[in-house]
Amino acid sequence: MSFRSRVGDDALLDVTNMRSVLADHYDLAPSMEAAEATRDIHARMARVVPLADWAVYAPYVIAINRLKKERDAVVLAHNYMTPEIFHGIADRVGDSLKLAIDATEVEASVIVQCGVHFMAETSKILNPGRTVLMPDMEAGCSLAESITAADVETMRARYPGAPVVTYVNTTAEVKAASDICCTSANALQIVNAMEGDTVIMTPDKYLAQNVARESHKRVAWWDGSCIVHELYTAEDLRAYRDSDPEVKIIAHPECTPDVVAEADYTGSTGGIIDWVHRHKPGKAMLVTECSMASNIADALPEVEFARPCNMCPYMKKISLEKILWSLHSMTGEVTVDPAVADGARRAVQRMIDLSRKLQG
Ligand code: 13P
Ligand code: SF4
Repeated sequence: MSFRSRVGDDALLDVTNMRSVLADHYDLAPSMEAAEATRDIHARMARVVPLADWAVYAPYVIAINRLKKERDAVVLAHNYMTPEIFHGIADRVGDSLKLAIDATEVEASVIVQCGVHFMAETSKILNPGRTVLMPDMEAGCSLAESITAADVETMRARYPGAPVVTYVNTTAEVKAASDICCTSANALQIVNAMEGDTVIMTPDKYLAQNVARESHKRVAWWDGSCIVHELYTAEDLRAYRDSDPEVKIIAHPECTPDVVAEADYTGSTGGIIDWVHRHKPGKAMLVTECSMASNIADALPEVEFARPCNMCPYMKKISLEKILWSLHSMTGEVTVDPAVADGARRAVQRMIDLSRKLQG
């Protein structure tokens, strides 16, 4: 089933109406005055966002930050959000694991999830009593769309008795059909902690193959992939390194095993950010989504980022305008059937608990 048919046409944005209502309530014209008034925020992204562009964003940032207080809302933003979102309005930022843990600590009544739909579902599953808003319901994920709960049962029938470890990049229904979840930050540790010789990993075949290379378990996988990370090739990376031998290549484990084999470090988006902060290489190529380098460029002026990168079309559906609209209109609410949410919560909470225990 396509993502669009799953969320329903009613959930889709009427952009013309959104713009006319916002124009009636807020002064959103580009403003150097607003840019000057928010120079401290701009300073976190000045290397990648020119002041002229900031004059376009600043009125939205001011309006959203005000509205967050009025609505008792908190913004959870993934590392792939653009800098004006990541630095301008987010209360918590991180990779999927950190955002899931952060969601368990929220005290505000409303969560605005700046990321993709499965992340908002995870926040809702962990906060059934809070309102979770998604600024654009069409922000899906190729991995989440690649598998259904029935497919999980097919895998169980193929490998009887094997536990199912499901990547968080999936729908709540798929999580509920699984034994435990994992993220790119803990996949190897979770797989290794399962009982038995064989573990089923869904839905990312490349994450599973990368885990299989390092695990003592036999790993069976589903045929899903990330449309962003699968575009990178080992040949391209080798050619890049040949032309610039000093560059450090840092990859996400959704890349193919051939690409991961070329990398100096492989980790979750949070792991990548930590690695660059710790090692401060003179030149780094982040083999992942484009906003990652933009978001850390100002904190690391000594690092030159090589920019061949790929954009996630789903993550890029989230914009300041849509965030303001979701908070203004309180639309884009994410709901999860309570019975499904119970099953999915068990798999997500089991991951969080095991992750904490394994970290000591
Ligand atoms: P992380 O958990 O590493 O942030 O990855 C999420 C994702 O969607 C990467 O494409
Ligand atoms: Fe999904 Fe890939 Fe986009 Fe991450 S980058 S949200 S895995 S499509």
